[in-house]
Amino acid sequence: MSRSFCEIFDLTTDEIYQVFDLCKKMKKGEIDPRPLVNKSVACIFTKPSLRTRVSFEVGINQLGGHPVYITDNEIQLGKRESIADAAQVLSRYVGMIMIRTFAHSDVTSLAKYASVPVINGLTDLVHPCQVMGDYFTILEHKSKDIYKVAFLGDGNNVANSWLNLAARIPLDLRIGTSSETGPDKSILERAQRNRKSRILVTDDPQEAVKGADVIYTDVWASMGQKDKLSEKTVTLKKFQVNSSLLAGADREHLVMHCLPAERGREITDEVIDGPHSIVFDEAENRLHIQKAIMVFLLQQ
Ligand code: CP
Ligand code: NVA
Repeated sequence: MSRSFCEIFDLTTDEIYQVFDLCKKMKKGEIDPRPLVNKSVACIFTKPSLRTRVSFEVGINQLGGHPVYITDNEIQLGKRESIADAAQVLSRYVGMIMIRTFAHSDVTSLAKYASVPVINGLTDLVHPCQVMGDYFTILEHKSKDIYKVAFLGDGNNVANSWLNLAARIPLDLRIGTSSETGPDKSILERAQRNRKSRILVTDDPQEAVKGADVIYTDVWASMGQKDKLSEKTVTLKKFQVNSSLLAGADREHLVMHCLPAERGREITDEVIDGPHSIVFDEAENRLHIQKAIMVFLLQQ
């Protein structure tokens, strides 16, 4: 049975640190594993992407493998044939499957029926590679036992992945969002039940950022939900990451955004281009962390 990575919660705390350790060593060039030599990786995208597509393709090449880019035009997952059939067919050709799509259940079904590892490259529910790379980026920039992370804006797939990380790694996580845009209830409750982290969901942006080490935001309307943008722009207005809000954060705070950003909406130019911003280090680390995740899964 191969191991898949559908969400951060699939890994134990110890395994998450193993991935960070691998990532650090690979990024420094201390190790150069090539577990994908003579193997291909199916990269399925039913949503657009810059970072995920390019960093996976480059990372697969660096691990000795060959990426096969597949869009919904060809595969029509669950429509042209069942996900179970597609999973079993793909497993006969490739050593691994990476997928970005809408329904999270499509990814877990693919993982259930595939005999090779499946990696989630974003669903409507979670974006696990993103938040693994983000936490690794924080570790590179700041040394602390427990980071105070304030996520501001839509309680979306990225916010849900922060909650999944908080279920495994101690964090002081504050989610600043409106009552209508909160994170997934069952992911929130699971993270609270796990008692690893202090978790606060608040509709007061100042309370969320108070003394925070990291201020994180993302678009207010995710892919597939852009029709809600004008409504959410009204609801989430007070959660914009701008310099007046950041006055309440720790003096040495870091500013993060998974990108793509809608500059002037969830974050101002002044902040995203400012001295506290580490958004491009974050983007770079998608490459390193995904290589580490692939190596880790292939070792299981
Ligand atoms: N952050 C991220 O996943 O970017 P893409 O949508 O461009 O892949
Ligand atoms: N929440 C965003 C993240 C994009 C990387 C989306 O799902 O569109």
